[in-house]
Amino acid sequence: PVQVKKICCIGAGYVGGPTCAVIALKCPDIIVTIVDLNQARIDAWNSKDFSLPIYEPGLEDVVRQARGRNLFFSSDVDKGIREADLIFVSVNTPTKKNGVGAGFAADLNYVELATRRIAAVAESSKIVVEKSTVPCRTAESMRTILEANSKPNCKFQILSNPEFLAEGTAIDDLFSPDRVLIGSLQTPEGKDACASLAEVYAHWVPRERILTVGLWSSELSKLAANAMLAQRISSINALSAICEATGANIDEVAHAVGRDSRMGPKFLKASVGFGGSCFQKDILNLVYLSESLHLPEVAAYWRQVVDMNEYQKRRFSKRVVDTLFNTITGKRIAVLGFAFKADTGDTRESAAITLVKDFVAERALVSLYDPKVPHDQIWLDLAEAMPVTPSATIQKQVQIYGSALEACKNAEAVVIATEWKEFKEIDWETVYAGMNKPAFVFDGRMIVDAEKLRDIGFKVTVIGRGERL
Ligand code: NAI
Repeated sequence: PVQVKKICCIGAGYVGGPTCAVIALKCPDIIVTIVDLNQARIDAWNSKDFSLPIYEPGLEDVVRQARGRNLFFSSDVDKGIREADLIFVSVNTPTKKNGVGAGFAADLNYVELATRRIAAVAESSKIVVEKSTVPCRTAESMRTILEANSKPNCKFQILSNPEFLAEGTAIDDLFSPDRVLIGSLQTPEGKDACASLAEVYAHWVPRERILTVGLWSSELSKLAANAMLAQRISSINALSAICEATGANIDEVAHAVGRDSRMGPKFLKASVGFGGSCFQKDILNLVYLSESLHLPEVAAYWRQVVDMNEYQKRRFSKRVVDTLFNTITGKRIAVLGFAFKADTGDTRESAAITLVKDFVAERALVSLYDPKVPHDQIWLDLAEAMPVTPSATIQKQVQIYGSALEACKNAEAVVIATEWKEFKEIDWETVYAGMNKPAFVFDGRMIVDAEKLRDIGFKVTVIGRGERL
């Protein structure tokens, strides 16, 4: 197997950035260059004061140690490709917006463009690694493109190495992954390439955690993992609706169920609905794949996981309106949290976007606060979510504040949309004093001590609990 000395990563986003920064940190003998067409993103990665383009606990520390040593960020994509022996393709694969499969299929345009660029500029043989999440058998298309366009002396081996990190805990996940999955063709060349990449990870990952499988299994495993994780959330959320209607408590149910060692306690928290760039996109991708394979029952099964999530978000905003005497017109609602989960500034598919959209449609006034999401990102997300609402209307009805306390001032209700730790430590006495009465709290993340808040005077509604206000 080739010993990898230079790595290039195409795509400096939430995956490419942290993943390859950690590879550089753990492999001082390998030069890692992360390239991206987006100059502003590269500038941020290179910024002197380390104002990196994404927020992730521990990331800055990793970049501080490795940047300039054996970790480089550049917008010179061609140079990065030319110099590397191994290239990660870590570009975005969003859901297609137009054409065949719109709303379901993955948009592979970015993967294809990156692949064509590799073929066009490579002057020597390379190992090309799919890091992006792609539909099963994408490696086949990549190989066809590479072989049809490459120079005579260039050979390409394609590997699938899906990324299992979770945003918010990316650095910990990368430092000690449950597993690293590498898929390759089962030819001698394919297995050699697989061994070369395994060697990179073996710098810090125990060998028994590096799983090597066939290419198609590897590609499908990533879709399968996200579909099953999301299914767990939709299952617990479906049960939360039954709890609210019966007086059972979803936390108690989840605890009892999770004690079964076949099930395990993790990832059983009911909430206002899952978000993030991956779950919905990857399930829809799986649905599309199933349909293309003429497996409509399989497609319908997975589709329901996404439908349940939409229902959960809708159900929550309806509960807010119902509880506030069936109208929130002109009422001020403080929404705490805009990121799709705690410890990230990422808002893609965040449930908070849907909530704010619903509240604006009911003509409420919304006061927003999130500790990490940049304000211009919030305005962008809201404009995209409400394409027919004039931006003047959105700006009139929504205000963004610099702290939870300010956002809650003069509100009728506080809605907790993201489980940021600081929301567990809010001074609720002060919040209560500044709110209109009766003062309502809607906890979409089960983080407040409902009894304590009721003692202060709040009327409290928690996901998955149907008890008295
Ligand atoms: P992202 O949108 O943050 O980053 C992708 C980057 O690729 C962008 O900066 C874009 O400018 C760049 N890019 C696109 N085409 C390019 C080209 N031809 N040449 C150079 N740069 C190019 O996306 P993110 O979140 O990093 O996701 C990347 C892939 O990883 C997706 O397929 C996603 O499904 C997968 N993934 C994401 C996870 C997450 O937590 N965000 C976790 C696991 C997998």
